[in-house]
Amino acid sequence: MIESSDFRLTRMPLNNGSGNMPALGFGTLIPDAAVTISATRDALEAGFRHFDCAERYRNEREVGEALQAGLAAGGIAREDIFVTTKLWNSNHRPERVEPAFAASLERLRLKYLDLYLIHTPFAFQPGDEQDPRDQNGNVIYDRGLTLLDTWKAMESLVDRGTCHAIGLSDISLNELVPIYESARIKPAVVEVESHPYLPETELLEFCKEKGIVFLAFAPLGHGMTPGLLEDPVISAVAARVGKTPAQVLLAWAVQRGTALLTTPKSAARARENFDISALPEDAFNEINRIQTRQRLNDVVNTGSPGFIPRVRST
Ligand SMILES: NC(=O)c1ccc[n+]([C@@H]2O[C@H](COP(=O)([O-])OP(=O)(O)OC[C@H]3O[C@@H](n4cnc5c(N)ncnc54)[C@H](OP(=O)(O)O)[C@@H]3O)[C@@H](O)[C@H]2O)c1
Repeated sequence: MIESSDFRLTRMPLNNGSGNMPALGFGTLIPDAAVTISATRDALEAGFRHFDCAERYRNEREVGEALQAGLAAGGIAREDIFVTTKLWNSNHRPERVEPAFAASLERLRLKYLDLYLIHTPFAFQPGDEQDPRDQNGNVIYDRGLTLLDTWKAMESLVDRGTCHAIGLSDISLNELVPIYESARIKPAVVEVESHPYLPETELLEFCKEKGIVFLAFAPLGHGMTPGLLEDPVISAVAARVGKTPAQVLLAWAVQRGTALLTTPKSAARARENFDISALPEDAFNEINRIQTRQRLNDVVNTGSPGFIPRVRST
């Protein structure tokens, strides 16, 4: 458990000595361009200093615009924010990695990235089509390379100095271990779905042992209902400690030693989701005892973004 009770300024050291990552991260997976800009500005104003992007989200330009304007207006230096973006599946071929990285930097209007992640371990047919499909609608995978081939190209970006740290996303422990063992530059961060219904305890323990930051996405269960925000244990804890269910879920994530990504889309929710402090130990343990198990996002199985259809009990 983390000692400080105020989680707003909690930072996670990176294992390659390049600095540290603010535990509370703002995710930019927002389909609408105007909302991307307003939500990113609101997050910056609320205090978020960690921004998670991806070429796949197709809004790096809007995020870049919002960050530029927000930094200038708030007197915030580039060094005060931590920016991540991700290499998409259709760019896994080693010769495509540097151009994809450079294109993301240009769209984000940045000179360097704090963190670059391989978005998923699945290589798709190389090219500019992000979602290559055959006539039957099936994804066309690229069987001609390994994840380690791509990882080595990622290591070269760190050598050049324009990327401070590298990591992996949507990866299982079984896939992470061989990369960790073979890597010249070890993964600094692993970004995966995680919340009380999917604690990923084994992966978290491995990450803690190796000094890898475990970065949880969907800490609010993607806001899906019925779901975590309405879970009876979460609601009861929220009422008891005088916080909202969202604040309880985000606090639980930081308290167990993970960083997190959340995507509030209004200024009020940005302030709410940033105002996170430690839960009493009994409340923390009560959440740890939740037995429901559910993965919401299928990307880890296929490389294609998408939610698993929910089966409602009648
Ligand atoms: N690596 C990957 O494959 C991957 C996959 C998915 C996501 N991500 C990253 O993770 C980020 C976080 O996404 P997420 O869906 O996991 O975020 P999340 O914060 O768990 O869920 C967002 C949903 O929660 C709702 N919400 C936010 N704050 C709330 C509050 N205070 N009270 C009630 N509802 C609230 C939002 O509703 P409104 O829309 O109404 O505000 C939205 O529907 C993404 O932006 C992206 O950067 C990565």
